[in-house]
Amino acid sequence: MDTSTPQRAHLNVTGRCNSRCRYCLCWRTQNAVSDPSTEELKSVIAQIAELGVTQISFSGGEPLLRSDLETLVEYAVVKGLSIWLVTNGLMLTTHRFMSLAKAGLGGLGVSLDSLDSETYRYLRGVRIEKVLKNLINAAKGQILPVAIATTICSINLHELKDLVSFAKTHRILISFQLYQNDAHLAASDSALSPTAEEIEPVINELCEMKKTRYPIANSREYLQSLPEYLRRGEWTNLPVCLAPLLEICIGETLNILPCWGKDMIVGNLRKTSLREIWYSPRFQEIRETLRNCRNCALSCHLENSQRNLLD
Ligand SMILES: C[S@@+](CC[C@H](N)C(=O)[O-])C[C@H]1O[C@@H](n2cnc3c(N)ncnc32)[C@H](O)[C@@H]1O
Ligand code: SF4
Ligand code: SF4
Repeated sequence: MDTSTPQRAHLNVTGRCNSRCRYCLCWRTQNAVSDPSTEELKSVIAQIAELGVTQISFSGGEPLLRSDLETLVEYAVVKGLSIWLVTNGLMLTTHRFMSLAKAGLGGLGVSLDSLDSETYRYLRGVRIEKVLKNLINAAKGQILPVAIATTICSINLHELKDLVSFAKTHRILISFQLYQNDAHLAASDSALSPTAEEIEPVINELCEMKKTRYPIANSREYLQSLPEYLRRGEWTNLPVCLAPLLEICIGETLNILPCWGKDMIVGNLRKTSLREIWYSPRFQEIRETLRNCRNCALSCHLENSQRNLLD
């Protein structure tokens, strides 16, 4: 298997978080992890660009906790990267949104799993009010593309249609991802996994909405794969997953992973350069192991794979 030039990079710029999401480990482990410095992240961004990547997403942890985020965005722009940010929205004030836009941010996803204050608090451990206000204000000016990122779990299944309608009202795209219990930084809680029987009618409704131009970013293929994935623990009706071949995943301790679905460490950027790790025999072996992997339903990777095959 030849090693391809990577197309996208996902960079966790912090391991800290100001939310308390039920399905995520970040806030539980944050005291054990110290953030990479500005200079370390600049070096990582330069190495990503040097490998030929043109798209990067900043995530975490909660990236808006970093006061140097604008500096990192500006630096990535100079290196020729287009930058997407994923945030819980709590600190996305109009001032911060504008300063990120000015720095050259290309767009952002705001996580929102429910419109109901009780459910939101149950799932994400904090209050919804600021998040909603910040999200609506960010979307209002249409200054940057803004999307809602919704994690589907057993608790919010009945609300997905409402979230799509909300997205349409505010002219925002909405992107769904299924809760995973063994992905990088995932907190395992089997009660959060919907059953295939529970999700199937909801998926059918979402596909109907998509047909009538509701702003759902996911492909029908991805959505329709979810009941089967939940039934069998793997999907069979999607194109092969290309994440380990085309995407660079860099964790909050600067570990390189083959994808967010597998908590495997290929190498660490504090010890080895990105180029060395990307083209290393160890990464090749891991890619071989994952060649036919169908073990996760992370839309951030699977939707990219479909796009790559369609390109
Ligand atoms: C890890 S968070 C980091 C960025 C930011 N803190 C946020 O919440 O948007 C990125 C996305 O992963 C989602 N996520 C977290 N834990 C997950 C899990 N176990 N399964 C699937 N998605 C998960 C979050 O809801 C969020 O949309
Ligand atoms: S999903 Fe995002 S907001 Fe929630 S705890 Fe994890 S990193 Fe924080
Ligand atoms: S399906 Fe792809 S992204 Fe998911 S665990 Fe397997 S290789 Fe990783």
